[in-house]
Amino acid sequence: MYDLTVVIPTFNECANVAPMVDLLNKALTGRAWEAVFVDDDSPDGTADAVRAIGEAHANIRVLQRTGRRGLAGACIEGILSSTAPFCAVIDADLQHDETRLPVMLDLLAQDPALDLVVGSRKIEGGDAAQGFSALRQWGSDLATDLTRRALRITVSDPMSGFFMLRRASFMPVAHGLQVAGFKILADMLAAARGRWRVVEVPYGFRKRQFGASKMDSAVALEFLGLLVARKTGGLVSIKFVLFGMVGLIGVFVQLAVVGVMLVLLPGQFTLAQTIGVVIAIANNFLLNNLLTYRDRALKGMALIRGLASFYSVCGFGAVLNVGLARLVFSVLAIWPLASAAGAVAGAAWNFVASSLFTWRSR
Ligand code: GDD
Ligand code: MN
Repeated sequence: MYDLTVVIPTFNECANVAPMVDLLNKALTGRAWEAVFVDDDSPDGTADAVRAIGEAHANIRVLQRTGRRGLAGACIEGILSSTAPFCAVIDADLQHDETRLPVMLDLLAQDPALDLVVGSRKIEGGDAAQGFSALRQWGSDLATDLTRRALRITVSDPMSGFFMLRRASFMPVAHGLQVAGFKILADMLAAARGRWRVVEVPYGFRKRQFGASKMDSAVALEFLGLLVARKTGGLVSIKFVLFGMVGLIGVFVQLAVVGVMLVLLPGQFTLAQTIGVVIAIANNFLLNNLLTYRDRALKGMALIRGLASFYSVCGFGAVLNVGLARLVFSVLAIWPLASAAGAVAGAAWNFVASSLFTWRSR
C-alpha cells in the first residue's frame, strides 16, 4: 500500500524520465510512494522509457493513452488510477521542486481538515525567475490576476501545475472538471467553490533542461475558454467556447470576402455572399482544426474529407437556422429574437454535429 501517488503527465519527455525517477527516489526515501507517468502516446517513446524502469521497480508505472491529448485530462486519470490517500501532480521536465513533496505530504497527513497543498511561486520563498522568460512571466501574472478575480480564488498561484491533495476530497469534484484544459488546479479550485482548506508551500520554478514546453497561444486561448466555461456554471464546455470564438472570426472573414467580391463583381450580391459563406466555412474548419480540435487534428486526406463533412454539417445548420427563425417569427413577430434563436440553434447544431461527424474522437 502506498501513502502517496505522484502523477506525472508527459508528452515527449523521454530524456526526463530517468532523471525524474532519480530525483523522486532521493526526495521520497523512507516514504511509501509510487509514480504514475500519464503519457499521451508520445512519439519519442516516453512510455517505453517508463516501462523499462517499471520492470525493475514495482512503484513506477505508466498509463499510456492512445488517441487523446490534454494535460488536465492526463492529471485527472492519473489521480483516478491511484488507491493512495494522497496524490501529487508534478511536471516531468524537472521544473518543479520535488524536494517539497515530503513537506506537502506531512502537512496533509498531519491535518485531516486539509484538502490541498499548492506549490506556489508567488509567496515568500517562492519564485519563477529561472523558469520563465520576461514575456511568459508577464502572461502568467496577467492570467493569475484574471483567474483569481473571475473565479474568486484566493490561492496566490492558481496557475501552478504542482500540488498535492487528499484523494477523498478530489473524488467528489472529479466529474465536473474540464479535461481539455492545461490549468487543472484553477479548475479544481473553482469546482471546490471555496470549500477546500488549502495551504501553500513556496518553491522555485526551475529552468527546463531537456525537451520543449507545450505551452503555446492555443493553450492561452483554451484557458480563456476554461474561464468562460466556469463562469457559465459548466453550461458550455471549453470546446464550445473555442468553437464560438472561431465562429465570430468567421463572421468577419465572411464580411471581408463579400466586401472584396463586391468591388471585383459590382452588383452581384448573391454571388458575392455565396462565395463569402463558402470561404468563411473553410476558414472556420481550418481554425477549429488548429485550435478547438487540435487534440484530434485532421491531416492529409482526412483533412479533405473533414472539410466536405463540415460543409454538410454547416449546410444543415443553415437550414435549421432559417427554419427555426421562421417558426419563431411566425409566432412572435420580433425579428431580432427570431433571428438570434435561429443563429443559436444553428451554432449548437454545428458544434454537436461536427464533433460527432467531422472530428470524431476515436
Ligand atoms: N499527458 C500529457 N498530455 N502531458 C502533457 C500534455 C498533454 O497533452 N501537454 C503537456 N504535458 C506535460 C509535459 O510533458 C510536462 O511534463 C507537463 O505536462 C508541463 O508541460 P510544459 O509544456 O512543460 O508546460 P510549462 O512548463 O510551460 O507549464 C507548466 O508549468 C506551469 C507552472 O507550474 C504547467 O504545469 C502549467 O500548468 C503550469 O502553470
Ligand atoms: Mn515545463
